[in-house]
Order: sequence, then C-alpha cells, then structure tokens
Amino acid sequence: MTQQYDLFAPTPQKPEKGEESFFQGDAREYVRLVSQELARRYETPPLAYVHSYGCQQNVSDGERYSGLLAEMGYGFTDRPEEAELILLNTCAVRENAEKRVLGNIGAMKHYKEHRPNLIIAVVGCMTQQQHIADRLKKSYRHVDLVLGTNAFIRLPALLFGRLTKNQRYFKGPEDSENSPIIEGLPVRRDGTLKAWVPIMHGCDNFCSYCIVPYVRGRERSRESASVIQEVRQLVSQGCRDITLLGQNVNSYGKGLEEKINFSTLLRRLNDEVEGDFRIRFMTSHPRDCTRELIDAIADCPKVCKHLHLPVQSGSDRVLKEMNRHYTIEHYLELIQYAKERVPGISLTSDIIVGFPGETREDFEQTLELIKQVGYTSLFTFIYSRRSGTKAEKLPDVVTAEEKSKWFQELLDLQGVIGQEIMDSYVGRRLRVLPEGPGREEGTLTSRSDGNLIVEFPGDPSLVGNFVEVQITGAMNWALKGEVVK
Ligand code: 5AD
Ligand code: SF4
Repeated sequence: MTQQYDLFAPTPQKPEKGEESFFQGDAREYVRLVSQELARRYETPPLAYVHSYGCQQNVSDGERYSGLLAEMGYGFTDRPEEAELILLNTCAVRENAEKRVLGNIGAMKHYKEHRPNLIIAVVGCMTQQQHIADRLKKSYRHVDLVLGTNAFIRLPALLFGRLTKNQRYFKGPEDSENSPIIEGLPVRRDGTLKAWVPIMHGCDNFCSYCIVPYVRGRERSRESASVIQEVRQLVSQGCRDITLLGQNVNSYGKGLEEKINFSTLLRRLNDEVEGDFRIRFMTSHPRDCTRELIDAIADCPKVCKHLHLPVQSGSDRVLKEMNRHYTIEHYLELIQYAKERVPGISLTSDIIVGFPGETREDFEQTLELIKQVGYTSLFTFIYSRRSGTKAEKLPDVVTAEEKSKWFQELLDLQGVIGQEIMDSYVGRRLRVLPEGPGREEGTLTSRSDGNLIVEFPGDPSLVGNFVEVQITGAMNWALKGEVVK
C-alpha cells in the first residue's frame, strides 16, 4: 500500500489525471525552484513559523512539513511576528481546539497588514473537512494555502505558485484523506534524543464520537523495512527514545503484502537494531490488543514497560454506543495479564466524560474502573460533538455544567490514585534517560520506561545516557532520586 515516492528522484513524477497543470509535476523540481526564488528575494534565509496542534501524529507530520521547508531554504523561528511563512498544522478532534485555531488564524491578519508578502498556510485534520477549507477561503482572505492531511508533496509547487504568481490554493476533492503513504520525505525533528516514527496512518475503527477516520482516511501501514531502516538511522544519529505512532498500532500490517503484525515488528526492532535505545508506542486499541503484544513487551528489553490502553468509559453500555467492540470484562482481563506478565508495568488511558446518553451510573462505573486498574496517569476529555460522526445525532441531556462536575470528580480521584502510585515507587530503582536540566539548580530531568518524570542531582554530561536511579521521593508531577553509583 505504500508508494515509494522519492522526493529527490531524478525522473519527474507522473502527474495525476485531472489535476490542474500548475500543481502537478516533480516535487523535487519545485523544491529547487522555490529555493532559487527565495535566494533571489532574500539575502539571508527567510524564517518559517511552524506550529502543530493536537496529537503526536500531528506533531510528527509537522516535522515533515518543516523538513520540506528546510529543504527549500527556510530557517525557523518561534515568533510568528518575524516569520515570512506561517504554517499551522491543525487538529480536529475536539471543537475547542478548532475554535482556538480559527481565533489564532483570525488574529494573524494584522501581521499581513505590515508584511503583505507573508504567506499563511493552514494544513492538517481541520482543513481536511471541506466545510472548513471552504470557510477559510471565503472568510479568511489573508490565508494563502489550505492543504489537507496528506498533501505534503504538493507544498513545494503550491508555495512556488504563491511566491511567483500570487496564487492562493484551497483544498479540493483531490486532496484525498486516503492518498498513499509517501516515503522519503525529509524530516526536521525537534531535538536529537527522542523521535516519533509513524508506522501507519489513518484509522478504520469509526468510534462513534471520533472524527479521525474521516480526516485521516483508511488504515495504511508502512512497510516494515522502511520503519526498521528509519529507526536504525535514528539510533545511529544518537536517538535514544523512539515512539512508534499510529491511531491503532495493534492493527499494524493489515493490507501489507508482507506477513507481519505489530508484535512481530516490535520483536524485529528489538532484535535487529543495535544500540542503547528504547521503544515506545501509541496508541493501542483494547479490541485489537493481544496477549501476544503483552508477551512482546515482557520479552523485549528495549520495549518500554508501559501500555497506553485507552478505555474511554467504564460502562459496557456506553462502550457499545461508542462502537468500541470490547467489554470491561475483556479490558480487565488484558490489564490483569499485563500486570502478571510485566511486573511494575505503567498503565495509562484516555477517558471521555459526558458521551451522549451517559448517566451518572455509567460515570460511576468509570470511576470504579480507574480505581481497579490504577493508572499512572490519564488523558481526560469532555465529549465534543463532531460533525459527520455517528454520535453527532445522539440525544445529549446532561448539561455542560454537570459534565464539568463529573470531569472534576474524575480528576480528583485520579489525583489521589496517581499520588499513591507515585509514592509506591519510593525505594525502587528505575532506569532513566536524562534529557536536560531539572527544575532545581544542579539537577537533571529524565524519563523512566513508564514515562514518569524523574529529577535527580547530576552532571549535564549524563544527558543522553541511560542511568540507574534510586527513587527517594515522590511529588504529584515527578519522582526524585539519586544516581546509583
Ligand atoms: N470528544 C472528546 N474526546 C475525544 N477523543 C476523540 N474524539 C473525541 C471527541 N469527539 C479522545 C479519545 C481519544 C483521544 C485521542 O481523544 O479519548 O482516545
Ligand atoms: Fe478515533 Fe477510535 Fe480511531 Fe482512536 S481508534 S482514532 S478514537 S476512531
């Protein structure tokens, strides 16, 4: 299913039938043309401000957009007011995030009044929805380019069109959410110690509340050779913490010609890539999470002893309405197996409060579940109605005020449980990766396998090398420790 699309291939890419002539052609050639044009206009590299909202998948996409921009000759800035190009990589999972993005785009209008040559591009999940792309075109006249979720390869041509002919571009039906995976894109990562590596794109689950399958399209896995090659290269460049990304990593391999599943991919990365590094992954779906996967976590020393297994709700009735295809009994069996097979495993989850039709009784079952499992931390969300999803039409009687109260109750309970779990680490030893200076003078901050923050006194030369730390204290946000000599 993956298409080897080498951006720097010597032969021109074949234009897709029906595309407008300006937007077809060889991306590599447009990268060259844009960089020539930029060199002609600017004495020093013009600056780009790239901001990604939302999940890690989006952050990872943002690194590919930045990679392309760097290839075209842009430098980078954290200050949008000094940028010649602003690229906002948007998220559509919740309405609040969308409102914030629209507000931010609106506020950028005044930058353009001072600098008419500024280019504003909006990409990502939000713009994949045609009604949003149309709205940006109509009501946000200062926006220049709007691209959907898989349109990386078109960016150079579109930028060239904007730079030389002042052409604006707004996503149309040709920006399909189902286009093939493009290999070989340049990536500009933040930092060198940690990296995201997407192993698949899209989602086939259609949970009834979720917009992702509509904006990111059907599941497409990358070939294992490409994933292994990328991980090997990252490790050789000094990367020590690699997170494999996908909306549902447990169904990795579906549709590939090679016979491979996610557990096998983990084992192969563990066995075939040499070096001192660790592997994380997210996100798992409880329906597809298998004992085989938990066995792989247990058996592979490089795989972190951490499982992010979003349960969403503690009520079977709500799970059915959410189209999640598992019961709490099944979920708890998996958790039990994970705790037995991987002693000390760190568990985390996502929970939605206030799904349409959720009753107080359903919500109390969620509270019960989180007591039973003992999560290290939770990602909690108030349900947000998304247009086009199945749940959009479900009656919702619980008031926003009531939902906020439940939400706070959930946070308070998790606060107590999380603290108990943090306290239980005191006296244990953890292997951690120091990442940089800690909050207090002379300390370093680091992450454990279970993704807990651990701060300890240490020399900056330890950054980037795994160390053993004896845990001496616990706060609610981090553990304290001392290096074991
Ligand atoms: N409302 C609230 N939370 C949502 N999520 C996905 N869609 C919605 C929605 N419409 C949450 C789920 C998912 C996480 C990434 O975002 O908990 O696991
Ligand atoms: Fe959304 Fe469900 Fe797919 Fe996750 S598994 S991206 S919640 S549809």
